[in-house]
Amino acid sequence: MRVVSGIKPTGNLHLGNYLGAVKQWVAMQDQIQAQGGETMYFIADLHGLTEFIAPAELTANTIEMTATLVAAGIDPERSILFNQARVPAHSELAWLLNNVARVGWLNRMTQFKDKAGKNREGASVGLYDYPVLMAADVLLYNATHVPVGEDQKQHLELARDIATKFNADYDSDLFSLPEPLISAAAPRIMSLRDATAKMSKSNPSEQSLVKLIDSDEVIADKFRKAKTDPDLLPATMEELDGRPEARNLLTIFAALADRSPQDVLSEFAGKGFGAFKPALADLAVAKLAPIRDEMVRLLDDRAAIDSILERGAEKARALATPTLKAAQRAMGLLA
Ligand code: TYM
Repeated sequence: MRVVSGIKPTGNLHLGNYLGAVKQWVAMQDQIQAQGGETMYFIADLHGLTEFIAPAELTANTIEMTATLVAAGIDPERSILFNQARVPAHSELAWLLNNVARVGWLNRMTQFKDKAGKNREGASVGLYDYPVLMAADVLLYNATHVPVGEDQKQHLELARDIATKFNADYDSDLFSLPEPLISAAAPRIMSLRDATAKMSKSNPSEQSLVKLIDSDEVIADKFRKAKTDPDLLPATMEELDGRPEARNLLTIFAALADRSPQDVLSEFAGKGFGAFKPALADLAVAKLAPIRDEMVRLLDDRAAIDSILERGAEKARALATPTLKAAQRAMGLLA
């Protein structure tokens, strides 16, 4: 069993990435290793290039994201933690897979459509090719499980299609099919201002997302001001249908508390948001403040953070090189 997942270095980690992905990464570090498996986590800095970012900002974000992951509980002694750019096999395998993936398949990717918006002609080729690099990221290590948020499911299905076609075209059994793992606890965390949009760094409203770097006051304030409705909380989750803001806050509470949404709802049934929001704000501060404080402490020694990445990349390269060579040879390249 090998778990592989990545995160883009786009500024601060937010509650969506944390509950949708990173919290699972930390849990899997224990579960998978107890079963003799391996966990590999990387900063997808090459994916970070697909939308322009100033070089100094990309570097700083990569360091900061690493510190956040370590502060959140990813242990570089137990998981392989690295940045993609230091393992050239990711780019090399992506080129090989570009010749397996079909234009029609990429044209169906909803993330590209969302990100490119109306200006498709002006989007980078990298943004279009993003899912193929992502396929390379997981196939390179023969990942069995890939913990991601709901929004990445389509990309992983594409990775499976690419692996299947590669194996068929080159009469090979090189690639195994990765399984997406989407946490039931937090499938999709939505914006605090508009629960029909996912919580995302690209949302222009600061109030829409809680960042792991936010101060206690800011975290509490964002939850207190989160958009809700005037109704009381019902007794069952079904009764929250048509109340996306309420459902989102319930989901966040449950995920932070490691409880089921129904269990949390039972506690607050019949109460209004005047009671629920302060409890959520307190819970969020209690869970997030220790991560933020540890991250700030780690960022004091930037060189130490970079050396964690360098050591992780060394281990990743050792695993990646044989797969890359096998793929090259299967295709008839002299490698
Ligand atoms: P990124 O950096 O956009 O997001 C990192 C992880 O956080 C999840 N996520 C969310 N989950 C729930 N609610 C949200 N609002 C929310 N926002 C983000 C994402 O689903 C993701 O799991 N393409 C990946 C990075 C990547 C990758 C990979 C992942 C590159 N190569 C290989 C897995 C395997 C991404 O968009 O990450």
